[in-house]
Amino acid sequence: MPDRWRWIPSERPGMHFLGAPRQHEIALELGMGRGRCALQLFLQGATVLGVELAFERYRKALEAMERLAHRCPEELRVSFQNSKARLMGANTQTGFMEVRYGDFFQIVKDEEIAAATLIFLQVCLPRASWPSVRSFLEHCSPGCRVLTFQACGEQGGETRGPSSFPFRDIGSPVLACTWATAGHRFHCYERLDLEEERRILERSGLRPEHLPQTRKTCDERQGWLRAA
Ligand SMILES: C[S@@+](CC[C@H](N)C(=O)[O-])C[C@H]1O[C@@H](n2cnc3c(N)ncnc32)[C@H](O)[C@@H]1O
Repeated sequence: MPDRWRWIPSERPGMHFLGAPRQHEIALELGMGRGRCALQLFLQGATVLGVELAFERYRKALEAMERLAHRCPEELRVSFQNSKARLMGANTQTGFMEVRYGDFFQIVKDEEIAAATLIFLQVCLPRASWPSVRSFLEHCSPGCRVLTFQACGEQGGETRGPSSFPFRDIGSPVLACTWATAGHRFHCYERLDLEEERRILERSGLRPEHLPQTRKTCDERQGWLRAA
């Protein structure tokens, strides 16, 4: 995919911290706003699923996708369906960007979470939603990197023991983002691999059967990409 980074001057947070998208990166942008980060990730080669709850912002993301496709008809095309749209390279071997209107807790499927290699969750959620965030993230596959607005690990409070948030803390940098140029402190995690997770469970006297089923069978990547 050619470098179209220059078209969108603002930076996605974590660009320097998490690095540019890796090969076969599948990114979820949960609470994508106008889709600026989602577009940047796509233009850098990732396959992206962006979700937005506010219709006005979702509509702006659609407009941006349309503008891009209009500007580069040889390279990009856009298709629309009810409450979602997809921007694709003319070469179907490359990734795509899909945006959906709705609540990510409701409309992102477990297998899509399992397929993700990168999750951006730049949303300030009420404390009452934090357990739902942890349950959502439990569907991640080993190695998936997550960037959150609020701390989710031990320092985020309300953990239910060592197996309740099976992620390694990889740092809490202050990063520039589209809505706070001076930067915001984000929290970055990487999902443990299953062996590591088993060892933690054993240390706390639990057995591997206590792993939720989704964690044992989370390798659905190819399935989701084929269905896409
Ligand atoms: C701080 S803004 C971040 C926007 C975008 N990520 C960016 O960097 O430009 C958070 C966004 O999350 C959206 N949001 C909040 N709760 C959501 C939910 N449950 N599902 C989808 N979007 C949500 C809000 O409408 C808002 O646009």
